[in-house]
Amino acid sequence: VIDISKLYAQTGKFTYDPGFTSTASCESKITFIDGDNGILLHRGYPIDQLAEHGDFLETCYLLLYGELPNKTQKADFDYRVTHHTMVHEQMNRFFTGFRRDAHPMAIMCGVAGALSAFYHDSTDISDEHQRMVASLRMIAKMPTIAAMAYKYSIGQPFVYPKNDLDYASNFLRMCFAVPCEEYEVNPVLARAMDRIFILHADHEQNASTSTVRLAGSSGANPFACIAAGIACLWGPAHGGANEAALNMLAEIGTPDRIPEFIDRAKDKDDPFRLMGFGHRVYKNYDPRAKIMQKTTHEVLGELGIKDDPMLEVAMELEQIALTDEYFIEKKLYPNIDFYSGITLKALGFPTNMFTVLFALARTVGWIAQWKEMIEDPSQKIGRPRQLYTGEPQRDYIPLSKR
Ligand code: ACO
Repeated sequence: VIDISKLYAQTGKFTYDPGFTSTASCESKITFIDGDNGILLHRGYPIDQLAEHGDFLETCYLLLYGELPNKTQKADFDYRVTHHTMVHEQMNRFFTGFRRDAHPMAIMCGVAGALSAFYHDSTDISDEHQRMVASLRMIAKMPTIAAMAYKYSIGQPFVYPKNDLDYASNFLRMCFAVPCEEYEVNPVLARAMDRIFILHADHEQNASTSTVRLAGSSGANPFACIAAGIACLWGPAHGGANEAALNMLAEIGTPDRIPEFIDRAKDKDDPFRLMGFGHRVYKNYDPRAKIMQKTTHEVLGELGIKDDPMLEVAMELEQIALTDEYFIEKKLYPNIDFYSGITLKALGFPTNMFTVLFALARTVGWIAQWKEMIEDPSQKIGRPRQLYTGEPQRDYIPLSKR
């Protein structure tokens, strides 16, 4: 008979770290976060500089290749991504198999995973060229798939990519253009969309990225791995928080109700949390939240939206929370999701599309992390251990004697 407690004692080196709060799962050269000081670097470059001066495809190149591209490399990369924006025509039928009221994230999980059924020539992970083609395909096709999920949900025909447009403009057009009507992409809104993509591009070993790595560690094809990441991102504690934050702001409604919600967030008997506040790694202001707040003002200004009630509640709530003992002591600051919902809503997206947009942008991070892992010669299948707390060994009792 095995004595389980003795077995653990014999195993020796065994760490138990629920939630992986202090356990690194890998080495990585892609993204660095200093949570205490609110710093986020991609390949060494601060997020605010990338968001201010670059565009999303440049960040994609940086995450994938490790360096910023020169002009020729950038033009070539843009061309190659653009070349892959169409999806297989048969995938259109795949969409119509879903109920119209399906959550677009449910559609994303299915369709992204199904890419491996359409693009067999980029599923051999041992082939470097195929890995890169799969990466470009994912980055290029996610906006098309996301826009198709949206169009399907509102009963409008799909709008095909128009490849003389930049990445963000193309996406906005696929979402909001209607056949037989002129549609001009507003460059200020396209720039804001692009910046939102940059802010979400990668964030080291968060839950969805770790999911992608774990799935990929078994040798699963990249499309299947990204589908796993999308599924993980969907949760309200992760990518679903922007939707939850906006719903919360709507529920609060007016600044005079903020204290009531602050009190609820502090009450340990109430499961309510301030959505868009707190972060596992940032114990300071999330640097992405600052840029997002600026982008929110730019978008509302461009659209002529003055005195947006949700923005008013958000800003007031932030001020009150930042000076509240509970939030100071627990180091709870606004995260990227606090302002992103307001911006996305102003851009015209319904709330159920918010996490889809996050998935679209995070695809490059997932792919870059997956590639880094596959290309690491010391890579092993991810196989966490457990601390068994169940019954000790015992004998089977026949059904007639139970
Ligand atoms: N409102 C009120 N209290 C909070 C909040 C919040 N938003 N976040 C954390 N706390 C409290 C917890 O109750 C806990 O208190 P305790 O020490 O008295 O038990 C303490 O702060 C630590 O919280 P944990 O849940 O242990 O921290 P963890 O690192 O596991 O969670 C998380 C981080 C999930 C982001 C959490 O802060 C949260 O639920 N925030 C709201 C959801 C959200 O905005 N998610 C987006 C994350 S960013 C992203 O995915 C892009």
